[in-house]
Amino acid sequence: MIAPEVLEVLRQESAFITSPIHGAKHWQTVERNGHYLANFNGADKAVLSYFAYFHDCMRENEGRDKGHGPRGAVFAMKHRDIIDLNDVQFKQLTDACKGHTYGTRPACITINTCWDADRLDLGRVGIDPDASYLHNDEAKRIADECDFAKLINFTVKDKSKQGINKVVFDLDNTLICEKGERVRLGMFELLSSLKSNGIEMSIWTASTRARAESIIDKLGLNEYFIDVVYRDDYDPDATWGKSLPKDIRYSNGDMLVDDSKKNIEFVESIGLKGFHITPYISYVNPEPDLDELEQIHVMILPEVAFKIKRESHLLKRIKRLFAKNKPVPKWIEC
Ligand SMILES: [Fe+2]
Repeated sequence: MIAPEVLEVLRQESAFITSPIHGAKHWQTVERNGHYLANFNGADKAVLSYFAYFHDCMRENEGRDKGHGPRGAVFAMKHRDIIDLNDVQFKQLTDACKGHTYGTRPACITINTCWDADRLDLGRVGIDPDASYLHNDEAKRIADECDFAKLINFTVKDKSKQGINKVVFDLDNTLICEKGERVRLGMFELLSSLKSNGIEMSIWTASTRARAESIIDKLGLNEYFIDVVYRDDYDPDATWGKSLPKDIRYSNGDMLVDDSKKNIEFVESIGLKGFHITPYISYVNPEPDLDELEQIHVMILPEVAFKIKRESHLLKRIKRLFAKNKPVPKWIEC
């Protein structure tokens, strides 16, 4: 995400800003690709954003314009005062612009990622990116497996939003009980508060689409989540006790809530946040601890007050009594 005043300067001074080949559409795609790759290699996202918008901005034609990279770097120097980068970052930006067409690969991971991000958009001119010209493992994998859907489904985060912006929830035993019949007590309150405070959420489940899709729909969870990753999407060959970890970098997640310790340990090992929630197993623990949901809320939105209303002991006892035979009469719930 670059500053609005930089965008305004580009609107005034870049001849091909409306071009689908070398204009703003391409710049946005390069930025998206760069931020995606940076989730895996720690490249500097601020430099990647400026590179995306500057590397082609001084083209004089859409063909073999040999000097356009160095001219992009000169353009950046001319507008140094409105570019929000420190001197080290700025040098990376200008070096990346200068060398992006004819340069040799440097050691700097950020510059390499800039160039990979640009190359991964070659599909726009009908060329399949070749993994041997790419630097990052994840970029090579995408090229080798033609897995461009991962990039297309990725969204650049708003720079102004600090902290946790996207939370990924496991489905079974986290959001819902083991039978897929009930949503965890207090979960709707948590999801509603997160959603109304602008937190993006997605589900990542080891269940197949064939099983999980209808359950999510039936239990009314759809409206809270912007996307769902099913087992079919990330680990179709998974077997009981042997599955890939939930790598939430693919969906730009900041935090995972899961009853699997293994998944939580994995996200923490890659520098992201995790909350290990007690499994919701209806016959063992029909009323899971509401404190955990409040702790999750504090982790995500420490400034926003959130308290789930507890039922009285009397109502709980009455519910347990009726649950054995028939539903609780409506007048008791009021
Ligand atoms: Fe480009």
